[in-house]
Amino acid sequence: MQTRTLGARDVSAIGLGAMPLSIEGRPDPEQAIRTIHAAIDAGVTLIDTADAYHLHAGEVGHNERLIAQGLATYRGDPSDVLIATKGGHLRPGDGSWTLNGSPQHLREACEASLKALGVEAIGLYQFHRPDPKVPYAESIGAMKELRDAGKVRLVGISNANVEQIRLSVDILGGVGATGLASVQNELSPAFRSSEDELALCADLGVAILPWSPLGGIGSAAHLGERYAAFAEVAAGHDVSPQRVCLAWLLAKAPVVIPIPGSSRPETIRDSALAVDLELSPAELAKLDATR
Ligand SMILES: NC(=O)c1ccc[n+]([C@@H]2O[C@H](COP(=O)([O-])OP(=O)(O)OC[C@H]3O[C@@H](n4cnc5c(N)ncnc54)[C@H](OP(=O)(O)O)[C@@H]3O)[C@@H](O)[C@H]2O)c1
Repeated sequence: MQTRTLGARDVSAIGLGAMPLSIEGRPDPEQAIRTIHAAIDAGVTLIDTADAYHLHAGEVGHNERLIAQGLATYRGDPSDVLIATKGGHLRPGDGSWTLNGSPQHLREACEASLKALGVEAIGLYQFHRPDPKVPYAESIGAMKELRDAGKVRLVGISNANVEQIRLSVDILGGVGATGLASVQNELSPAFRSSEDELALCADLGVAILPWSPLGGIGSAAHLGERYAAFAEVAAGHDVSPQRVCLAWLLAKAPVVIPIPGSSRPETIRDSALAVDLELSPAELAKLDATR
């Protein structure tokens, strides 16, 4: 498995997005654990989660506990797997997603995530989404304090614009292991508006983790039907359009680390193979031009 740099760590160039294991349409726990094990078997060493990846009220940390269980029951040594979790989003249990970016909430959420993951320090802690009710600098200041206190090894942000990335770099003290380690934004054939943030991350040397890289849970299976160019390039290589999509994102910059979601071993195995798919400049141009 090819690796890319995230903060001080080398991680697999494709991560596992674990959200589908815990939200609407989630599989039974046995299948969820098999999916996590299949990801690690395929060489995946980055798993993305969040305290808010759950369905019902009172289940905060469902996805984090699943991952902890997946690592604990893995037959090999999973110690090189970086778990990336997030705080600042909440799910009250009625299907909605709410925000709380206050420093006090982030401190409490971090403590709960430490417990759910069963670790002394979180590998990568990401501020999930800006909260319009809280100045961004206050939320990021709280993330810095958590890192300075040793509760968090690396700090990332998510759903951030160019200005918020620059502000985070200032507050966190630079980029990488002792600054801003990663940015997680939506980026897929359907959603191109994070391209400015991608360019800035490439410039700064900050890892960028495209979320919903295949278009999201409801759309991912239909990627090839929605975008003929991805289906055509896929047919030429005898691979899935989803694998082509991930290879296309990987080719955008060496800082890109897509985190496709999976609820089945088959899909994460297929996605992990995107690191070995080389697309020609003409193919990449054709995919870039697809709207
Ligand atoms: N920061 C944020 O605000 C934010 C928001 C949304 C998501 N995320 C993160 O990003 C991750 C990915 O996003 P997502 O799960 O919403 O959407 P996605 O990755 O675009 O799509 C996930 C779906 O793709 C299918 N899939 C994956 N690999 C495939 C393959 N090789 N061939 C065919 N189908 C494939 C999976 O099917 P099966 O279920 O059948 O396996 C899954 O249902 C999430 O899991 C989460 O960790 C972050």
